[in-house]
Amino acid sequence: MIPQREINNLTALIRKYNRQYYTQNASDITDAEYDALMNRLIFLERENPELHSDDSPTARVGSVPLASFSTVIHDPPMLSLSNVFTSEDFLAFHSRVLSELGKDQVEYSVEPKLDGVSLALVYENSVLVSAGTRGDGVRGEDVTENARTIRSIPLRLDTSQSVSVEIRGEVFFMTKDFQVMNREREEAGKSPFANPRNATSGSLRQLDSTVTAGRPLYFIAYASGHNPPGLKTQEELFQQLHLWGFHINSMNSICNSPAQVVLAYNNLVDNRVDLPMEIDGMVIKLNSFSQRGDIGSLSRAPRWATAWKFHAEEMSTTLIDIEVQVGRTGRLTPVARLEPVQVGGVVVTNATLHNQDEVIRKDVRVGDIVLVRRAGDVIPEVVTSLPPEDGERGREFQMPDECPVCKGPVVQPEGEVNLYCINPSCEARIRRSLQHWASRKALDIDGLGKQLCGQLVDAGMVNSIADLYSLNYHELTALERMGELKATKLFTALEKSRKSSLSRFLTGLGIPGVGEVASRDIAAEFTTLEALGGAPEEELLAVKGIGPVTALAIRRFFTNPITSDVIEQLIKAGFHPVEEATGRGSSLAGETIVFTGTLAMPRQKAKELAMKAGAKVTGTITGKTTILVAGENAGSKLKKAEKLGVRVVSEQEFLESAVD
Ligand code: IVH
Repeated sequence: MIPQREINNLTALIRKYNRQYYTQNASDITDAEYDALMNRLIFLERENPELHSDDSPTARVGSVPLASFSTVIHDPPMLSLSNVFTSEDFLAFHSRVLSELGKDQVEYSVEPKLDGVSLALVYENSVLVSAGTRGDGVRGEDVTENARTIRSIPLRLDTSQSVSVEIRGEVFFMTKDFQVMNREREEAGKSPFANPRNATSGSLRQLDSTVTAGRPLYFIAYASGHNPPGLKTQEELFQQLHLWGFHINSMNSICNSPAQVVLAYNNLVDNRVDLPMEIDGMVIKLNSFSQRGDIGSLSRAPRWATAWKFHAEEMSTTLIDIEVQVGRTGRLTPVARLEPVQVGGVVVTNATLHNQDEVIRKDVRVGDIVLVRRAGDVIPEVVTSLPPEDGERGREFQMPDECPVCKGPVVQPEGEVNLYCINPSCEARIRRSLQHWASRKALDIDGLGKQLCGQLVDAGMVNSIADLYSLNYHELTALERMGELKATKLFTALEKSRKSSLSRFLTGLGIPGVGEVASRDIAAEFTTLEALGGAPEEELLAVKGIGPVTALAIRRFFTNPITSDVIEQLIKAGFHPVEEATGRGSSLAGETIVFTGTLAMPRQKAKELAMKAGAKVTGTITGKTTILVAGENAGSKLKKAEKLGVRVVSEQEFLESAVD
């Protein structure tokens, strides 16, 4: 087939499957089949660069890194919003609007104020040609390549007409996606993001768009640059945005009295914790575009809109001390010890300070009164210090130049803000490594919790994970709070752990960059420890999701005398980890599964789990379907499954079968 024809066919097919997947939550093909189509298209475009179009679906995977961002000019400028904090403030805003318009009633569009990063998307002839951050309102950074990787941003407007328009909206992380991403980062030994907003801004400002492509960012549209011709209100704009293929917020509503606005605000406050994303208030805009024109804008903010902001959940308390914790990978993290204080419904006693740069930036010192924030489910953090105007201040904080636990040397890798203890026998690192080895996602050793790990290290009985397997029963029972029954149970659990799969074994080793997901992919590829141990970097790089840094870390782990010795000892202790061929032994092997409704885990993850367990995943219920996994609000598919007598299971039941 001539390349142009094949490219067109592939593009049309991939678009069709994207639409199915993202708007109908269904798929007629497996992920592997989808990847094959995408890979073929990438190949053809690379071979025939002149045929590569701006709105090709391959843009979703990112492209070559940039040296720096160029500038975009916003016309009209991207304004910010004035604020109100109370219903009195809002009523004053409302009275002014009424008197300037000479009316006694107006309509408002009220919208949750998304706490992310605003983005302006320029479409020419219906194709996305540029995406810019807000910057100073007039000049922003050109992040087009990164925006193209965000799946909720249409690369082409869904219209048969040729439309040129600028669409504005917010990029952010859904709270659940943020949490999963942070958990995976921690498992992989990377530092977690402080909060979803910082993570969004960092993810959007990557020179290498393949990095952005790996982050589950989301875009919701709420404005246009100039008002598109033919549209008279915000309500009509939302309808048009939806038709063009944008996601809009389902919590948006139209209010035609101030009482309705107050009600909508109270509603939002009440439901805030249950929302799928973080918001920091409610935006109130005049619905009518012509009325907006009548009222006009100031240089920084329109006079026809305002943001009714939530009071941030911030409390002040005394910073008692700054301690430095040492993690499993040796990373040193300063942690604030606080006078206990209630923030957002929980008592906070510790808050991370992330790293030395953050401590300096916030100028936090022991003895200061500090503001502590807890936004949504996010871990508490110190916002800033409130030093006394005339009082004595504590000493400036300095990260230690030796490990606070083992007193060994610390290093700061080039380009990193974090310091690391590099002593593999550091007690803090061993304690954390043991905890990690025993954790549910790794070797899942019942009875070996945080406390016992500490006891074993303190008593000098265990200096590495391998030492767990030469523990002496009598020494063990001599430990405090360790009866014979507990000791016997621990030995049974340790015995069982010797038969763990290669993927769990790998997760347990805690190689930087190799968390639960990567471990499964690597184990599926190499199947035995021997094959993996001898694999050169090129072979590691061929595994999905493994980049050069992780490949090198794996090689180092297997060649470094200390870590390779641990593996050697584990083998001597009876470990022969292998990975069963995909799904063998799982109760889901051979099943044909359909997912429906809202799942707690991302659907992609559920599909991967099912396929790893040897099941086939399809999008529609047919006579061949054997299991329907029904999430919340399952609708027609559930009815059809029941009619056809297909087995229906909950997400929880599915998860249990998938990972057994
Ligand atoms: S309208 C002139 N609508 O709030 C109109 N903004 O302080 C300004 N934001 O930079 C934008 N949700 O990042 C608008 N539904 C919404 C919004 C929203 C969040 C952000 C946006 C803007 C900031 C204004």
